[in-house]
Amino acid sequence: MKKLAGLVMCGSIVWCSSVTGAEAPSLEIGKRLFNTEKLGTSGKSCATCHTNLNKLASVAAYDEDELVTIINQCIAGPLKGVTLDSRSADMKSLVLYLKSLKTK
Ligand code: HEC
Repeated sequence: MKKLAGLVMCGSIVWCSSVTGAEAPSLEIGKRLFNTEKLGTSGKSCATCHTNLNKLASVAAYDEDELVTIINQCIAGPLKGVTLDSRSADMKSLVLYLKSLKTK
């Protein structure tokens, strides 16, 4: 029940994945993280620079570990944020989301 309450709250709060730590990775979370400024402190989101696959052309060429490294570089660099653990649901969701983009 506690978990359910957390999920319901997600609907009203823009960024909540770290609140619900046990959350499973999903495309939906990845998309939300990609579009939120709250991953960093620079007022930018991933989407600020990467609209319409801008600069994401080579995503298909990277394996998961490489993507994690690159994503964390973009978080620590332009976003001025705190890097994500490679095993976290947040990071796995971002990887899922980026991989889903390549097929479009
Ligand atoms: C200030 C702009 C900026 C922001 C914000 C940003 N990036 Fe990037 N990103 C870049 C640039 C520049 C590159 C290098 C692109 C190149 O070499 O062609 C890059 C490269 C990448 C790549 C490698 C793509 C490739 O085809 O080689 C991935 C994946 C990526 N970014 C994901 C992210 C994610 C996820 C976020 C949000 C957490 C993010 N980026 C935020 C500018 C940004």
